Amino acid sequence: MTAINAVTDLTREGDIAVITINSPPVNALSADVRNGIRDGVQQATADTAVKAIIVICAGRTFIAGADISEFGKPAKGATLPELQAALEGGSKPVIAAIHGTALGGGFEMSLMCHYRVAVPSAKFGFPEIKLGLIPGAGGTQRLPRLSGVEAALEAILSGTPFSAKQALEWGVVDTLVEEGKLRDGALAFARKVIDTKMPLRKIRDLNDKIETARGHLEIFDKIRREYARKYRGFEAWQVAIRAVQNAIDLPFDEGMKRERQAFLDLIPTAQSQAQRYVFFAERKVWKIADVPDDTPTLPINKVGVIGAGTMGGGISMNFLNAGIPVTIVETAQAALDRGVATIRRNYDNTAKKGRLTAADVETRMGLLDPGLNLDSLSDCDLIIEAVFENMDIKKDVFRKLDKIAKPGAILASNTSYLNVDEIASATSRPDYVLGMHFFSPANVMRLLEVVRGAKTAKPVIATVMQLARKIGKIGVLVGVCHGFVGNRMLAQRQREAQKLILEGAMPWDVDRVIYDFGLPMGPFAMSDLAGLDIGWSKETSKFSTIREILCELDRRGQKTGAGFYDYDEQRNAKPSPVVEKIILDFAAKKGINRRSISNDEILERCIYPMINEGAKIIEEGKAQRASDIDIVWINGYGWPVYRGGPMFYGDLIGPDKVLAKLKEFEGTMGADFTPAPLLESLAAEKRRFQDL
Ligand SMILES: NC(=O)c1ccc[n+]([C@@H]2O[C@H](COP(=O)([O-])OP(=O)(O)OC[C@H]3O[C@@H](n4cnc5c(N)ncnc54)[C@H](O)[C@@H]3O)[C@@H](O)[C@H]2O)c1
Repeated sequence: MTAINAVTDLTREGDIAVITINSPPVNALSADVRNGIRDGVQQATADTAVKAIIVICAGRTFIAGADISEFGKPAKGATLPELQAALEGGSKPVIAAIHGTALGGGFEMSLMCHYRVAVPSAKFGFPEIKLGLIPGAGGTQRLPRLSGVEAALEAILSGTPFSAKQALEWGVVDTLVEEGKLRDGALAFARKVIDTKMPLRKIRDLNDKIETARGHLEIFDKIRREYARKYRGFEAWQVAIRAVQNAIDLPFDEGMKRERQAFLDLIPTAQSQAQRYVFFAERKVWKIADVPDDTPTLPINKVGVIGAGTMGGGISMNFLNAGIPVTIVETAQAALDRGVATIRRNYDNTAKKGRLTAADVETRMGLLDPGLNLDSLSDCDLIIEAVFENMDIKKDVFRKLDKIAKPGAILASNTSYLNVDEIASATSRPDYVLGMHFFSPANVMRLLEVVRGAKTAKPVIATVMQLARKIGKIGVLVGVCHGFVGNRMLAQRQREAQKLILEGAMPWDVDRVIYDFGLPMGPFAMSDLAGLDIGWSKETSKFSTIREILCELDRRGQKTGAGFYDYDEQRNAKPSPVVEKIILDFAAKKGINRRSISNDEILERCIYPMINEGAKIIEEGKAQRASDIDIVWINGYGWPVYRGGPMFYGDLIGPDKVLAKLKEFEGTMGADFTPAPLLESLAAEKRRFQDL
């Protein structure tokens, strides 16, 4: 065995050279790895006894991607053309032997080889799109030549890995070898290459699949249509389609040049910066400063849910999906039946779409135990309360739970706003109480705010964070305050939106600005969807807001066919002349001189106060880090990932600029805009939220 460098070595098995990469944890395609491959192939080529070369990885995976910490930094190590010249352009057949995940640059490197063998559990993919990038080492030019254009577009645009079986069908791998015997399988394949004198198969020279697609622009139109909604606003997505189209329209080398340029052009964009930031933010979010990874956790084998309404049903589904039995308790049979029927209907709909089998539906429903008696929760390891948002009712439930729940059981509230410490005070075990704030629809939305009470024990926090991961959520630790992180910041935006429509904008003006910014809908469309009558009652209505007036008129949102908008049968929203008149009359009655309000002002008024509130949240220690706040907004409210979250957006604009604008607004409109001290100090020190 010869060491090529610190992470690569070369061995000879008769006339076959084996280059092994060993760069834990994931053999990322760093400068060292690239150098090792280039030099290893050169040495093997120089050795006249060698007739074929295998590139294989030690550890748990093949090269799992580029080394993204290198992006945007000065280039070092073997360049892409050098790697290509050594592998594809070399004089001896090179075989990539693949296990684990061959992703991004790793997958591309394997496509520079003449052949690929893999174990059945291997996965392949191009996750670049998720970082606001496109493959930059030939992926968009080589994959279509192997798999055909449609398959390549699917892989490149979705960013989702595909299986070895799929890879074999698409012609991406030449053969699958026995699981756990990759090296032997690759050696046997190399033997065959040598003995049967298989040619040096360069993907760059394969043309039949490209020719089939030539002149069929409708393939690209179709994909643009299909993904239009999902990828609205994403620059890299358009660039990726164009790159694949180049593979068809241009000679290989020209297509490569353009792909590389497009990749390099995307790296410094705000979108790619934002998406790479989010990639790291999603990993940091699980780290809790004073709750180390080795904190003991409690087993959660059975979950109780109280309340089978909108939230209780969705919350239960998360656990049923993960194979954890759920006991769900209601106060009345009718409400219980309704809740259980909704769960079943959701599963049936998923089954109709082919994403669950009928047997899966029955398995999940079989794990659900509905009842009317709180006592049936006595053997649950975790009990989540999702009853009405009312402190007295919640305290009453927790008082009872305290008597029923077994020692060591975790008691959680799904409250949206209420004080978790006060709820905990109704029990004799506040150390076992915390908030688990799910987002609606709770079986779909990825965010879970884990609300840490003043007395919540560390193992309880560790357990719930771990459980969040298990049920496919992204858990964000937050502190007790009104609305926690997400709703507390949302309140800022909603307040400004309401003010703006009195001062001169219409609801659809505000919504359009927010939608164009990239959120799935604006504040008024969102209110219509949720229902305007949340927290409203005819008895206490004071006609003091537009919202109250609309409720009085039975315009309570989408469910009544009208709210801030008018809705047709398909629930398409149309600006409402009735609402316009209500707003104008209301403003006149209040003596407000309406003015024309620019799109810029709408955006700044809605978003800068959110950034300011985020700064206060950080100051008060209600979130651990600015990036956690961004994770909340991306996963709970549809903040566009290519804008990185409100705090990242604040960094991008610059804390000094946000501060100056807030001060200007404060001067004309008062204390709603008073800047947080943290924002002042960041601006003064020329630092960003990311630097905290
Ligand atoms: N709807 C949302 O978007 C949303 C999002 C996050 C959190 N939340 C919070 O979740 C909680 C529930 O909200 P929801 O929208 O599901 O309300 P909901 O009215 O749809 O459901 C509440 C259910 O609780 C039942 N219930 C009331 N008291 C009970 C008791 N003592 N024992 C057992 N069941 C009881 C009711 O019969 C009802 O079915 C609230 O605290 C709310 O703030 C709601």
